[in-house]
Parts: sequence; C-alpha cells; structure tokens
Amino acid sequence: MDYETPLFFRVMEYADAADRDVVDMVSGNPDWEPPEALRDGLREYADLEPDRFQYPPSEGLLELREEIAARRGVDAEQVIVTNGAGEANYLAMARALERDSGNEILLTDPVYPYYPGKTTMLGGTQRFVATEDDGQLDPAAVRAAASEETAAIVVTTPNNPTGAVYPAETMRELVAVAEAYDAILISDEVYDHYDLSGAFASALETDSAHRIVTNAFSKSMAITGVRVGYTILPPELVDDAKSRHMLVNVATTRPGQYAVLNALRETGPDYYERNRERLRERVTTFTDALEAAGAEYTRPDGSFYVMARFDGYPGTLANVERLIDEGGVAGMPGEAFGDSRTAWLRFALVTPRVEEAAERLATYFD
Ligand SMILES: Cc1ncc(COP(=O)(O)O)c(C=O)c1O
Repeated sequence: MDYETPLFFRVMEYADAADRDVVDMVSGNPDWEPPEALRDGLREYADLEPDRFQYPPSEGLLELREEIAARRGVDAEQVIVTNGAGEANYLAMARALERDSGNEILLTDPVYPYYPGKTTMLGGTQRFVATEDDGQLDPAAVRAAASEETAAIVVTTPNNPTGAVYPAETMRELVAVAEAYDAILISDEVYDHYDLSGAFASALETDSAHRIVTNAFSKSMAITGVRVGYTILPPELVDDAKSRHMLVNVATTRPGQYAVLNALRETGPDYYERNRERLRERVTTFTDALEAAGAEYTRPDGSFYVMARFDGYPGTLANVERLIDEGGVAGMPGEAFGDSRTAWLRFALVTPRVEEAAERLATYFD
C-alpha cells in the first residue's frame, strides 16, 4: 500500500542541514512554556511508588477521564485517553470505516495532510470538498459531496492550515449531514484554546450519535512531546474504539496523564489567555511584514498558521527549499495541503523570531 512519509519531515531535515541560520516555521511545536503545574506533576512523578510505573487502565486514568468528561459535559465512559490527537483521529476514522456504512472519507481542501494519509492507510477512499477562499466550509458543499458511500466527514476547527474557525451553525449542519447519510462527523478541535475570534463552537454542542470529537493537550499546554490526547465517542461507538486502542497501544503514557491531570486542576484561564495574546501579537507582526512585502496572506481566526502567497513563487517543495537557502526562513509548501493552495506557503508562528522571519521575507521578496 502506498502511504507517504509526511512532507514535514523532509522539510525539517532540509532546514536542519542548511548551511546557514534558518528561522524554523515548519511545524506546530509551540516555543512557549507549558503550565507550571505540568512541570510540577512530572517532577512529582519521579518519586512515586513502583506501581505508578506500571500499566495504567487502557482507556486512560479514571480521574483524568472524569476531569475531561466534566469539562466537556459528557460521560466519562465516552472518553478514551489517546496518544495525542493523532491517535484520536486514527481511532475515530477507523471506527467510522468499520461501521460498514460506506468506505469514503470526506476531507476538506486544503487539508491537514495526516488525514488523507490515515484514510489511505485504513483502506478508505477520499473525496475532497473545497473550502471558501477565507477557509470557511460551506455545509451545502459538504452535503452535495456526501452520499451513501460516506463513512465520515473530517473537519478541523480552528483550522490548520487556513486559520478558519467554523461558527456554531456550520458545526450543527455538518452533524446533520452526517446524520442524513448515516456517517460520522469527526471534529478535530486540537487548537480550541487558540481561538482568537471568540467564535469557536465545539461539535459537542450538537448532541448526536453521529459525531466524534478529537482533541489533545499537545497544543493547549505546549506539550506536543508528552503525547496525551483524547477522543469523545457516542456510547454506541465507544467499545470497539477502546478495543482498537488497547490492541494498538496497550495504553498511553502514565506520567504524562498524571501531569496533564495536575495541570488541568491547577492552571487558571490566564495561562491560556497569555498564549493567545502572544499569538495575536505575532500574527500582527508577521502579517504587517507580509503586507509591506506586497504578499497576499491569511489572517488566522485561530490556530498557529499564516498562509502567504508571493508573486511568481508558488508553494512547491523546491521553492520552500530555495527560501531556506536564500531567504533563511523555513515554511511548508502549500502543495502539502491539497490542490487548492499550491500557490501558497504556510508559516507556523511558533518561534520567538517571528519578527526576524518577517524582515527576512520582506527583504527576500523585495
Ligand atoms: C489538525 C491537527 N490535528 C492533530 C494534530 C496532531 O496532534 P497531536 O500532537 O496531539 O497528535 C495536529 C498537529 O499539528 C494538527 O494540526
């Protein structure tokens, strides 16, 4: 079967090997601090009894599942703690395909590239629905693409790479489309704490047996390396997903779960607000420079990413490599995200050197 190594790795390897200083804006690894209580939890863990170094319950520590369930307004039985949002998406997509209600997964274009990769890996087929120029998704377009073959519709809000945040009405209608075709809406909400618009609406707001929500602490707590996420499934779908999680992973990291639980309990809203404020400042710095450089660009309502289009410089891998060598800035080629943004480059605002990167781009494209 043909599933490719994600382009991210190739670009990061190329940037690392470059002969000059490069500002890395390739992947979504936050450069800011995790909550203090996360560090405290990890430190405490080192001194716990040997039994805490053994298998946790496969579906996750009960107290963490209860904490997540209380925050999200669901039953703890519906929560599986996963190896990040990556595994949560895998479980959700596999669960949708194994229902024998179609073999097709509807994805957006542009798309977070791991979804088509997982679809192929799971033996599903993919169909893309184009988003609007501003990244919004028209539920009527999704309805037009849906059919009896549709097993799942996978969306991301706030969106990577467009920065769009879908309003509550869009989320409601997407659930309705899933219901109409006996499919599953899978809503990946891993950037929910980076909603800069205030318009974010979780798919959980629409109660349905046809929607699965995936999420993680990777971005919200700036801990992509700790690997703690979760998925919330309707009661009818949860048991088989738990079995798959157990057979693939046994369980996910116990120290990580402990530290995340500690951080959830001890961290106030100011931590998340500070992170959003930093991001807002970076968006302004970066887009001001893009404006000055005469580029077309997106201003994200959420997530970490800005897409930019420079005249005569399409978003190919070759141009990304050229920009690393000649401009000293590493981004992602737009072509990695589907057919609709091949003219664009994507930059992740997760470096303290956003201003320097912006200046380098302005000089290079002058
Ligand atoms: C839309 C989206 N979903 C999932 C992930 C992966 O999340 P995790 O690190 O929690 O597996 C990312 C990471 O960039 C992402 O952008």
